[in-house]
Amino acid sequence: MNGLAYHLDPARGRNGLEARTQELPEPGPHQVLVKVLAASLNRRDLMLMDGTYPLPATPGIVPLSDGVGEVIALGDKVTRAALGDRVTATYFVHWVDGPQRLAHAAEQYGANHNGMLATYALLEEDSVVHVPEHLTDAEAATLTCAGLVAWAALTTPVPVQPGQTVLTVGSGTVALFAVQHAGMLGARVISVTSTQEKAERFRKLGAEEVIVRAETPDWEQEVAQLTGGDGADHILDTVGMPTLPKSVASGAYNAQLTMIGAMPGPALTEGDGNPFGNSYLSIRRIAVGSRTHFEAMNRAITEHRLRPVIDRTFPFEQAIEAYRYFSEEDPFGKVVVTMS
Ligand SMILES: NC(=O)c1ccc[n+]([C@@H]2O[C@H](COP(=O)([O-])OP(=O)(O)OC[C@H]3O[C@@H](n4cnc5c(N)ncnc54)[C@H](OP(=O)(O)O)[C@@H]3O)[C@@H](O)[C@H]2O)c1
Repeated sequence: MNGLAYHLDPARGRNGLEARTQELPEPGPHQVLVKVLAASLNRRDLMLMDGTYPLPATPGIVPLSDGVGEVIALGDKVTRAALGDRVTATYFVHWVDGPQRLAHAAEQYGANHNGMLATYALLEEDSVVHVPEHLTDAEAATLTCAGLVAWAALTTPVPVQPGQTVLTVGSGTVALFAVQHAGMLGARVISVTSTQEKAERFRKLGAEEVIVRAETPDWEQEVAQLTGGDGADHILDTVGMPTLPKSVASGAYNAQLTMIGAMPGPALTEGDGNPFGNSYLSIRRIAVGSRTHFEAMNRAITEHRLRPVIDRTFPFEQAIEAYRYFSEEDPFGKVVVTMS
């Protein structure tokens, strides 16, 4: 039975989405065919449209890494999924476990493998991940990118310990998941955001303290005060270079700082040039996570009945409006496209 798929023409920038009839795909021996139930947007999906993502989008690709579907057909060698299962997929088509390699980064759903903004999606068996049962389809469609990178940041290489302080910087969906995950891990959360309105929502999500950066521009000093002078143990900077020096200054002597945000900004050579001072804080950059990380996150989500934050849901026919809303309206939580 034919369906409908959106295709991306990167040469047309933000006008590059077009819906076309989709023929029912036939799974290869190690592939799983799903009927998509819902899909959601990430910052990278706009970067792919704009041509600013490190991996260029293949012209005509079906976009979106994040989505959930019901398995409706299987290749004859498939053992990791069964008909009727509700599954999603990893962001990197072939990163199952162990350290990430450059080859893993080179193959991504929604960039150079067809993604989730379609009636049907063909998934490689190794990338399939079962989703927590208590989540709605819309919620289950939000985990692949923002949910997992926040989880990997907090649990690898040195997991957050109960009672430690986690600082989140920014209020995109990576930061929202980080607040929820840190709560599951028993950490105390301090969040930095831009407005009082967002601050209130962060508190409701579980942040113990929220600093509004417009009112407290020297927020690193406030973090020091809130931690008895020690600084935060784990920092998730979801902004990038503009906030890096203050994130470093907010860290404890031996803290871990994970740089998730990709935003360029004033070079580190501005100011006095050495944001580290005497600290031995480590900075690392990470790229989403492996299938093993994904399955560990889903076990925790199931155990704690965590529910992702959803800002707004659009019907499939309004997927182009979903992109516009996502890029222009400053949503607080995931923007989801549902099929029914
Ligand atoms: N490495 C990975 O695996 C990975 C995975 C997912 C996303 N990412 C990247 O992580 C970043 C965050 O993604 P996201 O989807 O969670 O969020 P997002 O929608 O890109 O929003 C980032 C947030 O940063 C804050 N912000 C923006 N400009 C700022 C500035 N100049 N100074 C201070 N704060 C600023 C804003 O929050 P406030 O209004 O609260 O200040 C904004 O909501 C993006 O760059 C994305 O590409 C990387």
